Amino acid sequence: MKTLIVYDSKYGNTAELADEMLLALGSEAKACDCEQLELGMLEGVELLIIGCPTQKWTASPPARDAAFVIGESVSPSHLKVATFDTGFVGPFAGSGAAKLADMMAEAGFEVVARPEHFRVEHLHGPLEEGETERAREWALALAA
Ligand SMILES: Cc1cc2nc3c(=O)[nH]c(=O)nc-3n(C[C@H](O)[C@H](O)[C@H](O)COP(=O)(O)O)c2cc1C
Repeated sequence: MKTLIVYDSKYGNTAELADEMLLALGSEAKACDCEQLELGMLEGVELLIIGCPTQKWTASPPARDAAFVIGESVSPSHLKVATFDTGFVGPFAGSGAAKLADMMAEAGFEVVARPEHFRVEHLHGPLEEGETERAREWALALAA
């Protein structure tokens, strides 16, 4: 399945997960920092994965901007969407992935998976043990 992973990452943890997903999915997949996104990259894409750090209980501003632009500019037909975030675990941690999923659903896209959360140990990371493996498995399950 032709897949594009669009991600934002301030300290590199979300980018690391995007790289892991890319490795798992192989040549059918590409990844792109959302600041480098060009809409032409979405041509022929069947699965769009958007990832971000959760910041201030929601998706990071560059990720929200990217989701907004895609929602405004791309036809939702034939493009399935899934979202993930990185952040802390806790009752007040919030979910950037849920925000992105809501934005894409409101724009008419089919969101095919529950927003997924991957844990970092501290503000700058690292990712908690096992999270890179879980990211690879999550991406493979989505593509299957
Ligand atoms: C300004 C700011 C606000 C943050 N707010 C939250 C938050 O509300 N909930 C949370 O779980 N993590 C929060 N974090 C922690 C980030 O989620 C964490 O830094 C991120 O997962 C690291 O990913 P990255 O390396 O891809 O930037 C915040 C981080 C920053 C810099």
